[in-house]
Amino acid sequence: MKSELIIGQSRLFKKALEDLDKFAKSPWPVLITGETGVGKELLAQRVHFFSLRNKGPFIPVNCGALPPGLFESELFGYERGAFSGAVQSHRGLVRTAQGGSLFLDEIGELDLTLQVKLLRLLESQEIRSVGACRVETVDVRIIAATNRNLEELVREGRFRHDLLERLSVLPVHVPPLRERSEDIPVLAQEILERMGAVTEGTDLSCLSTFDWPGNARQLKNFLIRAYVLGGTHLGHDFLSRLLAKERGKLLGPALAEPSLTGVTLADIERQVVIDRLKRCHGNRKRAAKELGIAKSTLHEKLRKWKLDTPEEAWPLYREPQYPAIAP
Ligand SMILES: Nc1ncnc2c1ncn2[C@@H]1O[C@H](COP(=O)(O)OP(=O)(O)OP(=O)(O)O)[C@@H](O)[C@H]1O
Ligand SMILES: [Mg+2]
Repeated sequence: MKSELIIGQSRLFKKALEDLDKFAKSPWPVLITGETGVGKELLAQRVHFFSLRNKGPFIPVNCGALPPGLFESELFGYERGAFSGAVQSHRGLVRTAQGGSLFLDEIGELDLTLQVKLLRLLESQEIRSVGACRVETVDVRIIAATNRNLEELVREGRFRHDLLERLSVLPVHVPPLRERSEDIPVLAQEILERMGAVTEGTDLSCLSTFDWPGNARQLKNFLIRAYVLGGTHLGHDFLSRLLAKERGKLLGPALAEPSLTGVTLADIERQVVIDRLKRCHGNRKRAAKELGIAKSTLHEKLRKWKLDTPEEAWPLYREPQYPAIAP
């Protein structure tokens, strides 16, 4: 696989990258933490690319997207007849990652029973297919990532301390863009040039005045929009106007319009709650805590807005799943 160009000149980012490159060469697990969109998956690919296993596969698994009932069989495989519907045996993602790296993304979303199953793999590199008697040894390097604070989850009893200890032998924290604002114009320039935009003479410094809560992913999407709407030569005024809209979006799409006519306080409240739930990957307890309201109040609001059942709310919270990257 190829390593995508990773951009960043700030001291903070370079330090993270330096650690990561040293970690890549070793056989131990790496834990990458940081807010959404900071580039955790990109960096996980880099760990694999710079490791001695780079001829082997890089297999990403989104722990937050796999239903708990499927996690064990998807990861460890199953024997024929292990359960109704298991007409053929299945080798599972861990075996598919043999000789390479298994990227456990959104590891903080994994529930406690599944965490125990991972522990065995991390402790002894052993797995057992569902329905099998035999334990098998595998040769797989674990790279994990999360935007959650795992220490906090351990304190709340929602993440196993022993699993955290094993995952975080080599930890890397990727700082958010707002803490390394000097990276914003350089990243923007690279993204625009890759799309074929002419950046010569364009002042991109206005982009550093924004916090980019969705980090590099938000910046990238913003620049795609700018390129599509503004053409190859982007003027400073055009970028500033578009940025003002982006700022408005923080308080909901309705507020991105120049006029607030027709927007009610209830609209704003609903949008703030939805945005927060999205950032918390649908975790209501955490969203309520961050919003400074009781969990029961949040439930009440969601019921009122008809966003209470998983079916109603699902499309709001989920991001698309990753395809597996073959060697
Ligand atoms: N330093 C960087 N240089 C170049 N591109 C970057 C950088 N950081 C992030 N990106 C780009 O930003 C986008 C988001 O990155 P990525 O998916 O790796 O983020 P993430 O931290 O895994 O986010 P999430 O927690 O939401 O899954 C990708 O398109 C990635 O290529
Ligand atoms: Mg990711």
